[in-house]
Amino acid sequence: MSEYWQNRYKNKEMIWGTEPSKTAIGAKEIFQHQNIKDILIPGGGYGRNTKVFSDAQFKVDTIEISKEAIYLGKQWDERTNFIHGSVLDMPLTGKIYEGIYCYNLLHLFLEEDRKILIQKCYKQLKRDGLIFCTVLSEKDESLGRGHMIEYNTFKDEKGKIVHNFTQKDMRIHFEEFNILKIGEIQEKIMAPGVGERMCNLRYILARK
Ligand SMILES: C[S@@+](CC[C@H](N)C(=O)[O-])C[C@H]1O[C@@H](n2cnc3c(N)ncnc32)[C@H](O)[C@@H]1O
Repeated sequence: MSEYWQNRYKNKEMIWGTEPSKTAIGAKEIFQHQNIKDILIPGGGYGRNTKVFSDAQFKVDTIEISKEAIYLGKQWDERTNFIHGSVLDMPLTGKIYEGIYCYNLLHLFLEEDRKILIQKCYKQLKRDGLIFCTVLSEKDESLGRGHMIEYNTFKDEKGKIVHNFTQKDMRIHFEEFNILKIGEIQEKIMAPGVGERMCNLRYILARK
């Protein structure tokens, strides 16, 4: 899987453009309201969403597996601290954070690794800290692309894994947290080679 993502940015392009997700803007406002200043963004890519937070004076660390994405990110978002590594090897900073924002990363793993990632996020969050996480839902058109390797989890011909989350899935994955809200959102995204497409996402806001 990491090989897929290592190659994903090889043309050194901002493949989904520079417009941030509206969930990043929403999460930023929630975090500001809670006086959160220090956040972790697992899988921050080239900084499309990290910049929303760093521009608002948050201290942002992001862990990203692709060196090319980090190369682009450091130019686009100079204030965020881009750290090369796998989120499955966290903690990589030795820090505890007040907030975590995680956009469209969790659905890229098999069940065992999803549990590891969530557990690692839990451990890196301070008591009462907030996590805001988005994933592809089972209503998204990606459901069924490739062959099924686990429940609602497909691997396509390029080696990309997607687990499409139901609402029940969300609750089970985040059962250790105090879940504040689970919702659905539709968002236009630039799909390379295809143009714009509408994504069906689920989001969760939870407290440790
Ligand atoms: C669907 S993209 C989302 C990018 C970004 N969150 C955004 O808002 O644009 C998933 C990102 O996670 C990164 N990624 C995938 N597996 C990873 C891993 N094990 N550790 C760290 N980053 C990873 C990919 O390289 C990619 O940048």
